[in-house]
Amino acid sequence: MPRLSFKNAPQAEHRVAEDPNDWEVATRLVRGGLARSPHGEISEALYLTQSFVYESAESADARFAGDEPGFIYTRYGNPTVKMFEDRLALLEGAQACRATASGMAAVHLALTGLVGAGDHVVSGKALFGSCRWILNTWAPRFGVETTLVDGPDLAAWRAAVRPNTKLFFLESPANPLLEICDIAAICAIAGEIGAKVVVDNVFATPIFQSPLKLGADVVVYSATKHIDGGGRVMGGAILGAAALLEEAYRDLARHTGPALSPFNAWVLLKGLETLDLRVRHQSATAMGLADRLAAHPRVKDCRYPGRSDHPQHAVAARQMSGGGNLIAFDLGSREAAFTFLNALQLVDISNNLGDAKSMATHPSSTTHRSMTAEQRLEIGLTDGWVRLSVGLEGASDLARDLDRALDAIPC
Ligand SMILES: Cc1ncc(COP(=O)(O)O)c(C=O)c1O
Repeated sequence: MPRLSFKNAPQAEHRVAEDPNDWEVATRLVRGGLARSPHGEISEALYLTQSFVYESAESADARFAGDEPGFIYTRYGNPTVKMFEDRLALLEGAQACRATASGMAAVHLALTGLVGAGDHVVSGKALFGSCRWILNTWAPRFGVETTLVDGPDLAAWRAAVRPNTKLFFLESPANPLLEICDIAAICAIAGEIGAKVVVDNVFATPIFQSPLKLGADVVVYSATKHIDGGGRVMGGAILGAAALLEEAYRDLARHTGPALSPFNAWVLLKGLETLDLRVRHQSATAMGLADRLAAHPRVKDCRYPGRSDHPQHAVAARQMSGGGNLIAFDLGSREAAFTFLNALQLVDISNNLGDAKSMATHPSSTTHRSMTAEQRLEIGLTDGWVRLSVGLEGASDLARDLDRALDAIPC
């Protein structure tokens, strides 16, 4: 698609074109995908339009035939959405990106575009509740079966493979207990049988982990989380090779309509500008808070990928360049977890994550409620676990709030 570029504007002709692939991450996040209109606006233009007009009937004919570049309809593509897609693709080092209305729209599209009736999926069992619902409840209606395995157990992935296995799916770190899968090793197993690998990279963020470089075929994001980072809009994205995205997702997305709103894309473009700064700061605060939580007598267990006592810390250290902003800790019972949450004064009780505001949730009664108690037990999610998403507040204020809430739990 041609983009209206600042280079098209007469006043910019003197500017030398740089190759965005040579830019540092920070520059990619601020400049990547920027396609200025002839007005030369500093902030990305918001093309809040459903459709586009053609100079002639012949032009409309040619554009629908794919012979003439240009936008057609916002369900298919939109200039503001394209700027978001291009910026995220540049950050991820992906050839292509397709933005979606939410993270779940991205996961649903990513999975269903790669399988059909009679196919088999192998997936890590530690998954966000809605992802598990798609695999366990929805996909079987269309003749797609899934075997759930213990994500860190490589032998289990290999043992689950069937002649009709087409797809591997995993989250790493997984929601909510931050279990880590060895992405490169799992991709190697998939490669042996020609299966595709889709990685939900929400918890790691594109700043700390690059699944495509580890061998994955597709990466999915809930942009609702760190990419927005301000708790404002929903969004999602699928990234991978251009040919794969074209073949697996182009028509499916056009005809089923999970398109991202241009307004949300505009907000997310702004979110991307500060993503690197935010998640690095949050991760540094989270590391200190995880150490503090782990040392507290009311905390039975504390999981943080950056701590050496995390069960898969060695894998995390190999494939992630930072621990992220999420911490999970076990307070022993639902009563203790609820007492803790209700005693917080600064940290909000909320099920979202990746926000500037710190928030804590009780996964078994909220985000993972759609799983049965037995399914939760399979992933070690008992009722005492709390998930903390560390925000941008001052570390000492957060530490004080956590200490106060922990101290409210009776001995
Ligand atoms: C790991 C993971 N994947 C996907 C999603 C879905 O994202 P959204 O809420 O944007 O649909 C979430 C939401 O919490 C998540 O935590």
